[in-house]
Amino acid sequence: MLATAVNAQDVRRVYQEYCASCHGAKLDGGLGGNLVDDTWKFGADDASIARVIREGVVDNGMPGFGAVLNDAQVRSLVVYIREMGTQAAMQQRDFNRPTPAMVARSEVHAFELEVITDQLEVPWSIAFLPDGRMLVTEREGRLRVIDNDRLVSAPVKGTPEVWARGQGGLLAVAVHPDYAENGWVYLAYSDPGPGGSAMTAIVRGRIRDEKWVDEEDVFRIPTGLYKRGGVHFGCRLVFHDGYLFFTHGERGAQDDALDLARPNGKVHRLHDDGRVPADNPFADRDDAFRSIWSYGNRNPQGLAWRPGTDELWETEHGPRGGDELNLIRAGRNYGWPVITYGMNYNGTPITGETAKEGMEQPVLHWTPSIAVGDMAFYDGDKFPKWKGNLFVTALAAQEVRRLVLDGDRVTHQEILFKGIGRVRSIAVGPDGFIYLGLEQPGRIVRLVPAE
Ligand code: HEC
Repeated sequence: MLATAVNAQDVRRVYQEYCASCHGAKLDGGLGGNLVDDTWKFGADDASIARVIREGVVDNGMPGFGAVLNDAQVRSLVVYIREMGTQAAMQQRDFNRPTPAMVARSEVHAFELEVITDQLEVPWSIAFLPDGRMLVTEREGRLRVIDNDRLVSAPVKGTPEVWARGQGGLLAVAVHPDYAENGWVYLAYSDPGPGGSAMTAIVRGRIRDEKWVDEEDVFRIPTGLYKRGGVHFGCRLVFHDGYLFFTHGERGAQDDALDLARPNGKVHRLHDDGRVPADNPFADRDDAFRSIWSYGNRNPQGLAWRPGTDELWETEHGPRGGDELNLIRAGRNYGWPVITYGMNYNGTPITGETAKEGMEQPVLHWTPSIAVGDMAFYDGDKFPKWKGNLFVTALAAQEVRRLVLDGDRVTHQEILFKGIGRVRSIAVGPDGFIYLGLEQPGRIVRLVPAE
């Protein structure tokens, strides 16, 4: 994967050098066709576009570039053409930008957005207590309780010290399914290590009189494996069938994602007290982290069980292009960084390979990236026509998307709204409303039906 000089070139420069003379500096056509109007003479799918670039359509005046550009560069040109095409399409469309007390129409339900609070910083995660109160983490290191009158508590005292820099900080909060009996609340956070390093750790504890008490470690690794740098911590927590599943981003060390001796770049499964289940896929391997459930995952920002099924779904923040929606299965390899639909943020290629034997394909990838965040399946009763739909949030694209599924395929996507802030977190409340954590200002809002 070593970049040669030409291979390291920003895709925009590659385009300007080899393509702009015929397809125009803005990709809107000239001697060659318009590449951003979503009309394709030689096939609309990625593979057809890549083939035309490699082989050309010599009789029509499109030269082949297979001898000049390698597969990784061709792949990044496809990503770039998709980015520019989406940009052009988005400019021609109107999106809901809901404000409080405004009815937003969408395909099957009208809704209003209600502000629960706008007094937060980055509301990273939302979980509900059985009595309807809400727990919210702020990435800066605060855990708060929001009661049914929308009163926001002072930060709960005594929660772990967190490494709140870059993407690190206090991340997920989850409530044990038997909370009514045991009172356990789980927190995932970036734990400060030696020499400015940090890594994801998980603890559980109880909240008593606005204090964090009875803390126990659930997942904590030797600090020798901690990483420096402020990116890709994961971390979402979900319970299912007595197990705790959680995600761990690869910490910017992309090759670690395929290394079973490292915890980063994985989805893990533990018992609720942190013990490793004996039937985990790598439980009998001395050279592996026994909690690993799947690997080759880049930076999973969403994790959810699909109601009524045995399916664990995951959203994964890709590089530039190649955000993924995955169906996570035990022991499987999801391929990062050997296969990906994306390229590097600076426009240099990563690889031309999007599929490989022994590596899982995403159910769906977003190329260009929307910067996919959290996810939730809707199983409430306030929006009957959304039942069974999957909702995903987006950071950079500032969206909430509704995905309609048929089996394990996505048959339709709707951008429910866009452009009112990065959407960091989502949860369906016990009341059936959809709760969202938005940034700048840090808000918790909920969607309620309006007819
Ligand atoms: C010498 C002019 C020329 C150059 C340089 C050129 N193209 Fe083309 N390209 C064409 C022509 C002409 C066509 C065919 C248009 C037609 O038949 O409608 C075409 C077709 C295509 C198509 C297929 C479009 C469709 O409707 O299916 C793609 C994709 C494409 N070019 C991408 C590129 C890329 C990427 C580069 C740079 C690596 C490039 N071209 C460089 C002239 C050029």
